[in-house]
Amino acid sequence: MLSVNALSVRYGSFTAVRNISFQVRDGEIFGILGPNGAGKSSTLKAIMGLVEHEGSILLNGRNIGVREKNEIGYVPEESMLIESLTPMEFFEFIKSIRRIRDEDLFARLIYGFGIENHVTKPIAALSMGTKQKVQIIAALMHNPKLLIMDEPLNGLDAKSTKILKEILQIHVKKGGSVLFSTHIMEIAEELCDRIAVINNGKIIAEGTIEELREFAKSEGSLEDIFLKLTGEDEYVRGIVNALSK
Ligand SMILES: Nc1ncnc2c1ncn2[C@@H]1O[C@H](COP(=O)(O)OP(=O)(O)OP(=O)(O)O)[C@@H](O)[C@H]1O
Ligand SMILES: [Mg+2]
Repeated sequence: MLSVNALSVRYGSFTAVRNISFQVRDGEIFGILGPNGAGKSSTLKAIMGLVEHEGSILLNGRNIGVREKNEIGYVPEESMLIESLTPMEFFEFIKSIRRIRDEDLFARLIYGFGIENHVTKPIAALSMGTKQKVQIIAALMHNPKLLIMDEPLNGLDAKSTKILKEILQIHVKKGGSVLFSTHIMEIAEELCDRIAVINNGKIIAEGTIEELREFAKSEGSLEDIFLKLTGEDEYVRGIVNALSK
């Protein structure tokens, strides 16, 4: 589905993403994990063409142009909503630029995320979690093949978290693909078929959780594996010791 080759992202003289390559296959949930500032969002923004980059990014063998954007749903890290619009007006705007294949899907999403009573209020007046639901619905409503989500569970309550997890799993069962970043290890462990761990702009490990476990020589949870891979396990132990004195 998605092939990222030798991707680099620079902000002035600073290199945020260094020559990374990975593939997201049809029917798979691929997770990007990494500490704050590792380069996760920069990677996802580069795929969406939102930051200048080097390297090649192919969706089913084609560069990502206007047509390919119809096949992608993107949930950004920071809100890209137009706050003066209502959700309904925002969705109308999305409908005007994306090919909507399934009108009924839109109604099911509004109902599924329970935002029926908020769709005519200005977005500025919505709670953080409700705004996130609006962004998620806007990414899903044209039924794209590839979902790219940057910490999509941010701000979602338990019910909506469960619904989004189910949506992602159904999506890949139907042959779609998901690429998402998260800091929530339990979610990554539960959802991801494969994971790339990014640190300082480089992929330091990639594979299934079992493969990462083997690579890190760790018997523990994904959190333990992650901290070992990023070299933060000793640091955490030191801090905990110091704080528990
Ligand atoms: N527009 C920008 N201009 C300059 N530097 C930037 C810009 N955006 C990001 N960076 C820097 O690039 C690096 C990677 O940032 P990025 O947002 O990709 O990290 P991240 O892995 O998504 O982190 P987080 O977990 O905090 O969301 C960081 O050092 C960040 O400060
Ligand atoms: Mg980020």
